[in-house]
Amino acid sequence: MRIWALADLHLALSVPEKSMEVFGSSWKEYVKRIEENWSRQVGKGDLVLLPGDISWASHLDEALIDLRWIDQLAGTKVILKGNHDYWWPSNKQLRERLPPSIQFVHNTVFNWNGVSVGGTRLWDSDEYSFEPIIEEVKTSLVGKKREENSFGQEQQNMKIFERELNRLEISLKQLDQKARLRIAMTHYPPIGLDLEDSRASRILEKHRVDICVFGHLHNVKMGGSIFGRKNQILYLLVSADYLNFSPLNLG
Ligand SMILES: [Fe+2]
Repeated sequence: MRIWALADLHLALSVPEKSMEVFGSSWKEYVKRIEENWSRQVGKGDLVLLPGDISWASHLDEALIDLRWIDQLAGTKVILKGNHDYWWPSNKQLRERLPPSIQFVHNTVFNWNGVSVGGTRLWDSDEYSFEPIIEEVKTSLVGKKREENSFGQEQQNMKIFERELNRLEISLKQLDQKARLRIAMTHYPPIGLDLEDSRASRILEKHRVDICVFGHLHNVKMGGSIFGRKNQILYLLVSADYLNFSPLNLG
C-alpha cells in the first residue's frame, strides 16, 4: 500500500476544446502519458492524492466524464478543489455522485490505513511570489500579473486567502491524532521557494503535518530540487507537468 500524488491533471475529455495540448510540446498527449505512468506504477491497494485542477468541465455532469476516467485507474483517489475546478459542487453532491474509488477533502479529512489527509485550495498570497520561475505562463494559467491587479482585486485576493487559511485550520483540526502519517494537500503552494515562514506553513506546523503536496505552478523554469523540508514538514510540488505526468511516490 503506497501513497502517490499528482496535481493539475487538467483533464478535458468532456470539453476537448480546452485540452492543454495547446500549451506546447511538454503537454503533448498528456492524458495518455498520465494513464501510462499511472498504470505502470500505481497498485490497486494504493492511495493517490490529486490536489486540484482536475477537470476543465464547468458542470458536474461534464466533470463526471473525467472523473470516471480517473475512477478506472488503479487505487483509491482523493481529490481537492483547484482554482479551475469550476464544476466542483456541494459536499452532499460529491458524496452522492463521485465514482466509487474517488474521495474528496473539502473542510473535511480523509483517513486511509493509518494515513490522515486534510487540506484546502489556498490562493495567491502576498507573502511570496513565483513569477520569476513561471515566466512563460503567468498570464495564461496562473492568473493575471500582480502589477495589473487593481487595488480592489488585491483586497479581494486577501479576503479569499484569509478564508482559505480558515478552511485549512478547519480541515487540519480533524486530522486523526493516531495516524502514522499526516498529509496536507493544498492546490496553491503554502510557502515560498526560500521556505521562509508563512501564515499557511505555521498552520501546517501547528497541526503536525508531515508532508504537504501542492501544484498550481506550471512550466517551472528551475531544474534540480525545489521546495523541500522546513522544520518537520516536507513540501512537495506535484504539478503534473513538473513531474513529467508521472505520479510522485510519497512512500
Ligand atoms: Fe491552478
